[in-house]
Amino acid sequence: MKNSLLSTLRNKETSCELFRQTAHQLGSIMASESDSFLSKKKSSIETPLAKTEVENIETSPTLVPILRSGTALLPSFLFFYPKAPIGFIGIRREEKTAKPLLYYTNLPIIHKESLIFLLDPMLATGQSASLAIDLLKEQGALEKNIVLFSILAANIGFQFIQQKHPSIRTSIVHIDPDLNSDKWIVPGLGDFGDRYFKT
Ligand code: URA
Repeated sequence: MKNSLLSTLRNKETSCELFRQTAHQLGSIMASESDSFLSKKKSSIETPLAKTEVENIETSPTLVPILRSGTALLPSFLFFYPKAPIGFIGIRREEKTAKPLLYYTNLPIIHKESLIFLLDPMLATGQSASLAIDLLKEQGALEKNIVLFSILAANIGFQFIQQKHPSIRTSIVHIDPDLNSDKWIVPGLGDFGDRYFKT
């Protein structure tokens, strides 16, 4: 299912409406699989018929989308984690150099124990995500408690993140082989934000 949804996102003929719908569907699968990063507690409950052992999620993650594309994943994750604190990190790429520029931060209180789900659909050079990770660490997050969720990554960006932040965990739908000279993921899907926000 994830691959077929990704094919729809990649197709340049996909309308904005379908692109949004597909991004939300893919986001929902990513969010539903994200419970593998959560600690669970066993307890005993009674069904109408019998006593049984069940597993419950212990803590809610803190959701941090990187503006603006990361907000496309937010509704899907909120559906599964309705109590989650939400923080925002605004980073844009400088057009000429593709260097990340931090322009906005609004984060909830972060503790050493906080599990952070960093939402960044397109991991190209990895520099924006890395800047966001550094910022979260400055605010008290432990690298091992940060999970990066991306739809597409360029291999070089993925490797950059792994080298710079060896303890971070990732959930990435697909890793593409190339990054072109303008730092776009190839084959990729184009500008995620422009296609999702219709700009
Ligand atoms: N951001 C995008 O939206 N697309 C890319 O290919 C790279 C970064």
